[in-house]
Amino acid sequence: MDLQSFLLLLIQCRTLTAAKGYFWHITDLHLDPQYSAVPDPLKVCPSAGIQPVTNAGAWGNYLCDAPWILVNSSIYAMKEILPAPDFILWTGDDTPHVPDEKLGEQAVLQIIKNLTNLIRHVFPDTQVYSAMGNHDFHPKNQLPAEEHQIYRTTAELWRPWLSDHSVETFRAGAFYSQLLSGPGPARRMIVLNTNLYYENNNETISLEDPGGQFQWLQDTLTHAADAGEKVYIIGHVPPGFFEKKRGKMWFREHFNQRYTEIIQKYHSVIVAQFFGHHHTDSFRMFYSSTGTPISVMFLAPAVTPWKTTLPGVHNGANNPGIRVFTYDRDTLLVKDMVTHYLNLTNANMVAPEWKKEYSLKEAFQIPDGSVQSMHLLLEKLKRSQDHLQRYYQYNSVQYDQTYCDDNCQTDHLCAISEVDFVRYSQCIQAQNAAASPSASMLDVLLFYSMTGFLTLGLWGSVSRLGHEQDLVVFV
Ligand SMILES: *[C@@H]1O[C@H](CO)[C@@H](O)[C@H](O)[C@H]1NC(C)=O
Ligand SMILES: *[C@@H]1O[C@H](CO)[C@@H](O)[C@H](O)[C@H]1NC(C)=O
Ligand SMILES: *[C@@H]1O[C@H](CO)[C@@H](O)[C@H](O)[C@H]1NC(C)=O
Ligand SMILES: *[C@@H]1O[C@H](CO)[C@@H](O)[C@H](O)[C@H]1NC(C)=O
Ligand SMILES: [Zn+2]
Ligand SMILES: [Zn+2]
Repeated sequence: MDLQSFLLLLIQCRTLTAAKGYFWHITDLHLDPQYSAVPDPLKVCPSAGIQPVTNAGAWGNYLCDAPWILVNSSIYAMKEILPAPDFILWTGDDTPHVPDEKLGEQAVLQIIKNLTNLIRHVFPDTQVYSAMGNHDFHPKNQLPAEEHQIYRTTAELWRPWLSDHSVETFRAGAFYSQLLSGPGPARRMIVLNTNLYYENNNETISLEDPGGQFQWLQDTLTHAADAGEKVYIIGHVPPGFFEKKRGKMWFREHFNQRYTEIIQKYHSVIVAQFFGHHHTDSFRMFYSSTGTPISVMFLAPAVTPWKTTLPGVHNGANNPGIRVFTYDRDTLLVKDMVTHYLNLTNANMVAPEWKKEYSLKEAFQIPDGSVQSMHLLLEKLKRSQDHLQRYYQYNSVQYDQTYCDDNCQTDHLCAISEVDFVRYSQCIQAQNAAASPSASMLDVLLFYSMTGFLTLGLWGSVSRLGHEQDLVVFV
């Protein structure tokens, strides 16, 4: 071997080994501290509301939020599968789905503290980047655009993971950014409080830029671009639409628009985005105005199996899931994503066994988790029933094994490919027209009435009159 090929080999070895790292992403743990597997179906868990829970098992129930032993088991499973990740992403929602009256500021903080202690106990030396969820506040969803006791206390709980500067910005609005540690090029984590954009958040209803977070995000990204940094963005509530309910968005429209504009402007520094809130396993594509794929958002499944009570969602439970990413430490390129899960039925019947569910690369035969590869995956989902059905089973972490029919396919494909409100509704229209020309017009009308005037262009003008609250009832 001559010197040149030896050096080349060295470089290749370096890129193959030295630059490869791992990190975990967990989300939506939703601990229900009062879960107990008692015979009385009405006394199993407050998070089931008035639904009777029969045959409750020790490890949890699909109608309930996660019992303590399930939460504990998920964190220890991470430790067993991959004990020394470079860092952990934890994207919020710690408390049970119960009415506000059953919680309170102290109860919410107690649960955040409980989970923080657990994660710190199991991963004492690991950097954690944690974002607040809409359930990490009292009253739920009402996260304010300014300093608050809950932000201050949470900042203290998370101080071991935060820089002094992050503590400051966290106290002011529950968002922060930090450089990743380690050698090599500069890489940055941006942790957002997108609960400020949630349509159920009454605190931010009349604000243009709640907490100044958009401006801060733009400044941070401008600086990152100038400094040659690569960036990950994480948060809880994602922009775009819920793939399990047609027309269901989370952000208010002007917030959704501002967010997508920022992604379009700064996509070259943003390598990937990681969010939760859906409790499902999916992803979102972002495109330039000319249709080039520019960014990808990975949505991680929940640890809680809780079946959503959102009207219009059919059988929306999931098996508990946790996931690990392989990435390039220098460039932040996502190389693969492996999801592990607990078959809850089997846990209660036989034994609690966390198993590998799938690897993104293996399952879909794509090179990695780059924007181009995820666009390729979307193309495969559009063209191949097999791929789409496979994706669909992963979407609920193997809970829902039924066939995803035409309507279901439309909902998933349009949610994945269109984060923008107008483009999403056009996508639904186009798919419907293709599927059944005669029924399409009715569907379109139904859709318009569900999403509230979006494509009719009335939303903007009505919003300016200040009647957003009245319109929210449409979704
Ligand atoms: C948490 O999980 C670990 C590992 O399985 C186990 O040793 C420990 O007893 C569990 N703790 C509780 C309170 O369930
Ligand atoms: C968290 O809460 C559970 C159930 O309420 C309790 O059993 C456990 O000891 C607490 N753990 C920590 C680390 O605070
Ligand atoms: C938020 O506003 C809506 C609409 O006015 C109202 O129904 C709801 O009760 C409010 N929620 C809170 C927690 O204040
Ligand atoms: C989960 O476990 C149940 C009970 O053992 C079994 O019937 C079911 O097939 C399992 N699901 C998956 C996806 O393995
Ligand atoms: Zn949640
Ligand atoms: Zn949430």
